[in-house]
Amino acid sequence: MKVVIVGAGVAGLTAALRADALGHEVELVVKGRLREGSTVHAQGGIAGAYGPGDSAALHALDTMHAGDGHGDPLAIAALVDGAAEAIDALVRAGVPFDRAADGAIARGLEAAHSLPRIAHAGGDATGRAISDALTARLDSTRVRVREQAFATDLVTADDAVHGIRLHGIRLVGIRLLSGETIDADAVVLATGGAGLLYPVTTNPSGTTGDGIAMVLRAGAPVADLEFVQFHPTVLAGDSPFLISEAVRGAGAVLRDADGRRFVFDDHPDGELAPRDVVARAVARQALAQGSPVLLDATALGAAALASRFPMIDAELRRRGIDWSREPVPVSPAAHYLMGGVVTDVDGRTALPGLWAVGETARTGVHGANRLASNSLLEGAVFGARAADSLTHTSLPYEFVPPGSDRSGTNSYGSTSCGSGERVGAEQHGGMRGFSRQSLQQLMWERVGLLRDDDGLADAVRTLHAWEAPAPRTPAEQEDANLLIVARATASAALARTDSLGAHFRLSPALIGAA
Ligand code: FAD
Ligand code: SIN
Repeated sequence: MKVVIVGAGVAGLTAALRADALGHEVELVVKGRLREGSTVHAQGGIAGAYGPGDSAALHALDTMHAGDGHGDPLAIAALVDGAAEAIDALVRAGVPFDRAADGAIARGLEAAHSLPRIAHAGGDATGRAISDALTARLDSTRVRVREQAFATDLVTADDAVHGIRLHGIRLVGIRLLSGETIDADAVVLATGGAGLLYPVTTNPSGTTGDGIAMVLRAGAPVADLEFVQFHPTVLAGDSPFLISEAVRGAGAVLRDADGRRFVFDDHPDGELAPRDVVARAVARQALAQGSPVLLDATALGAAALASRFPMIDAELRRRGIDWSREPVPVSPAAHYLMGGVVTDVDGRTALPGLWAVGETARTGVHGANRLASNSLLEGAVFGARAADSLTHTSLPYEFVPPGSDRSGTNSYGSTSCGSGERVGAEQHGGMRGFSRQSLQQLMWERVGLLRDDDGLADAVRTLHAWEAPAPRTPAEQEDANLLIVARATASAALARTDSLGAHFRLSPALIGAA
């Protein structure tokens, strides 16, 4: 059958290679070039219970625990049980995972994992290694690759998906050609996350929630958008740069301005507590002391830092920072979206003909806070499962979303994004019209790491008052996508009145103290 896969990160590439191997006719489209998106930037690695003393059951427990109990057990089981095969497949595809002295894949430690179980490549260049290996494999397949092909919307008829529409970016004289469509028996969305909702993010520039926006426009269910993960250790300053959690796993610690390891005030595991806990501790301490906290890796020594984390080491040194001698100022940045397009354990969405995989999807594996290095794994496991489950839309279709007992909550089907009273946007701090920058600032201030009732209500009102201009360019299409995803995110956050995982609501008494 004809399959269109949108996106070439770990999830899209895995799905494309597997679907080709199964004999499908595959077209892989990306809005920019290959090797863009988040995958190529991944540092720490890919999780899998492949070491002595470890087990898929323990990995599942850690995943559920980090997700604050909100994960879906069936989806988590599919994830952890699929890890060994997914990592084997990456090895067969040519990913040069780092090896221990005995020849086994080396195992790194990251926060909230009971044991070291993170496979990495090139030290801290795991995403590059995976992206390069999978992309190179395309050459020996029949997959048709189309770069500079910006997918704008799903083509739907009779409540099913029959293809995608591309942005008409070619100008003939003064006329903008309307976008062409690609017909398909199956569409797989693998468009990544939405880090660009925020002004400070680890994500690359095209991470604008396009797939989620397409599904919202098509009226299909999304869920858990209120759960946005902020990474605690991003180099503070104008040009954010991630310093991997694996550095803390190797022994680096977080210190306040007095040199004290403050994260233990919040959690007995200190720097290796779940990521949402550490990110909030870092943000609160920075507010309290009026300056960023410090990541102290000096005890690891210059040689170990350079050999285990060569990419981070080189980047810091390029910026004039010798982290073997001085602690580094760090602060949180938007990093990962736990929510997304609701899928079953095979990536099927509620719309016949449409699958979603990777960060775009809400499979239920991450709950309210993703366990470190489970995202590359999710892309590899569910990319393959989606390919294995491809069927014609004309066949009888049954979609059972994971955790459907929770379908009464705000999460499923929050497509209306709330009704939102229309008020003047000037109510938000004098920001008058919609722009990407004003949206990002609003999301940072009102729908960020620490949230409160008034801020969330203001964000929902303001986002619904803003209109994005009818998109004429890919950048304007991204802006429109960010606005629709921001509305859904803020509305979901407002509707979830309790704190859970990465969604943290300050009680009024705490607001002054935060
Ligand atoms: P992506 O890799 O983001 O790819 C998205 C693809 O979709 C791209 O090809 C893009 O061009 C395409 N696309 C998007 N919109 C459109 C459109 N409209 N039309 C056509 N194409 C489109 N996770 C881990 O598990 N371990 C780690 O160590 C780790 N480190 C990270 C470090 C950084 C700095 C970042 C940013 C993330 C990290 N993550 C890590 C998270 C992880 O990298 C991502 O969640 C994962 O790679 C997402 O893969 P994906 O295939 O879903 O999407
Ligand atoms: C990191 O290396 O700190 C990022 C790991 C992840 O996001 O899973």
